[in-house]
Amino acid sequence: MNKNQFAIKTLVPEEIYTDREEFLELFYDEALKAATRRSASIVLLGQRRMGKTEIFKRVINRLFFEQDHKNPNAVVPIYYKFPDKITDRWEFSIKYVENFIKWYIAFRTRNIDILEEGFIKINDLRVFAKSQFELTPSFERSFNLIEFLYDKAVICPEDAAVNLPRTISDRDDSTIVMFLDEIQNLHLPQHDFNVVGYMQDAVESPTCPHYVTGSAMTILNDILGKGSLYGRFDPESIGPLTNFYGTELAGKSAVYYNADVSEIMKAVISERCGENPFYINSVVRRSARLNMSLNNEKAINKVLAIDLSSGFIYQELREQVIKWIDRLNNHNITKWILYLASLEEEERIDPKRIQRELKEREGKKIELKEINNVMIKLAQGDLIDYKSLGDWFTNVNDPILHEFLKVWGRVEVAGGSRSEVQEELTSRYESLKRKFGNYQGYLAEVFMIQILWNNQNKTLDGKYFNYPEKIKMPHSFIYIDQRSRLGTGMGKEIDVYATAGRDVWVVESKWWKKPVGVKVVENLIRQGELVKKRKGKDLDNLTLWLFASSGVTKGAKKLMEKNGILWSTKKDLNDLLKNSDLRELPKID
Ligand SMILES: Nc1ncnc2c1ncn2[C@@H]1O[C@H](COP(=O)(O)OP(=O)(O)OP(=O)(O)O)[C@@H](O)[C@H]1O
Ligand SMILES: [Mg+2]
Repeated sequence: MNKNQFAIKTLVPEEIYTDREEFLELFYDEALKAATRRSASIVLLGQRRMGKTEIFKRVINRLFFEQDHKNPNAVVPIYYKFPDKITDRWEFSIKYVENFIKWYIAFRTRNIDILEEGFIKINDLRVFAKSQFELTPSFERSFNLIEFLYDKAVICPEDAAVNLPRTISDRDDSTIVMFLDEIQNLHLPQHDFNVVGYMQDAVESPTCPHYVTGSAMTILNDILGKGSLYGRFDPESIGPLTNFYGTELAGKSAVYYNADVSEIMKAVISERCGENPFYINSVVRRSARLNMSLNNEKAINKVLAIDLSSGFIYQELREQVIKWIDRLNNHNITKWILYLASLEEEERIDPKRIQRELKEREGKKIELKEINNVMIKLAQGDLIDYKSLGDWFTNVNDPILHEFLKVWGRVEVAGGSRSEVQEELTSRYESLKRKFGNYQGYLAEVFMIQILWNNQNKTLDGKYFNYPEKIKMPHSFIYIDQRSRLGTGMGKEIDVYATAGRDVWVVESKWWKKPVGVKVVENLIRQGELVKKRKGKDLDNLTLWLFASSGVTKGAKKLMEKNGILWSTKKDLNDLLKNSDLRELPKID
């Protein structure tokens, strides 16, 4: 596919786009599989700004250009983004159907101009399409439906609209795949206009799977988890990038924006940004704008503080907040509640404290019930976390968003001075304690973790591990923790803890100039003992793996042989990375 060919324009430049292979392949393969009636509807769930929309767009572009569009068995991709405000059922239905018709014809004729707003009238499109390919009677009926909708001559417009695609693919025995973005807009807090009920039939046809995504977690749960769509979607969840790819992104972003980022700091940027691609891009871009090198932790923290309080991150998160609050009643009180909630120091947000402070600051007494209601609505916009089972609230599990809310609230709700707030945040961030003692060691861990992910369920040659036998890797890891503490009280930090349930890997990384000696090995053995003790009967296999960039001493080698410990030097690790289709370690000392 020509990289400049877009049915739908992606936002992330090719030079920066990182990883997400797994999802791109999944959706692409599933879409093609729909042609053999073996694909179900899928919901892609995840926090905001993880790259869900980008994944959809990229898959659609591939489907659009990589298939033979003249083949009647090709899978027709349709993209639709639910608008922010769905207020009128007629307008919604007309747009939905018009969009469908345009995509269908654009695909069949491979003419993307049709997708442009204002390029051609729907009525003219009918004539155009007929001159280009043979319309099936059922597809032709969609033009009739549009007429009926214009005339309001349908009983239930939204029903007719959302069911149109599957009706066509069912009748024609063809395949249509609907990619629906921002699905949370189907069901907004302030209106009861509700399309959800009509979607049930629409999404369950094997000739027309629906792939949906959106951002508001709580609403998605309401739409998909409890309501009438329950069980009709296969859930797929998306999280942050792994630190390996977050590091790669920091590097690509640095090249693209011409920022000065030192090799060793890329992993630190990724970690500091919670491996969130949007935050990583923002920090690197900001450093370029400020002409500040990111070559130590202090500089990273500083640039993050600046961007968070007045840059790309501030803009983007502010838009999320404002857009959401605009949808709710009583903006002023809502803003205050959001700001005061962000100031919570305990784990659970205390509505009584908010009530008290609101009284002090705004002189208004708001009932606790109302505060709760507002917080539930804020949770629907991903601005607070609502634990509906226990009926309590916490701040969202996104430290950067949380910090932003405090800054935004001080400036835009409480009327503080922006420059003061910014100065305070910057000095506080600049004086944060350095997080990592040895950056090289940390970086090697990041690479080792990716090796573990990439080789799940594979058998590896023992040569990479200085081990006489082949290594059978666990079938699938449940999670891999970096720098985790082995339970409270045990004290010792483990570099990498990877668990596949009854199968556990403990990894230690030493990027040293001199060979690693017995002491390090003894320590690793002790860590292993702690894991054994903690897991007890729940452990079948424990693997210990040491990275010693410059090798090990004779004594250490002997001790590892005796205890069946795996170990790799820098060369071994690079060979293993190559074998795992991953880039090698950066050339640093
Ligand atoms: N794979 C990636 N590589 C590099 N940058 C990415 C990647 N994915 C996302 N981004 C960055 O993150 C931003 C958000 O991506 P996107 O809009 O696709 O997320 P989303 O999950 O749809 O968010 P929302 O929930 O807010 O709709 C992009 O504009 C881009 O800056
Ligand atoms: Mg999106």
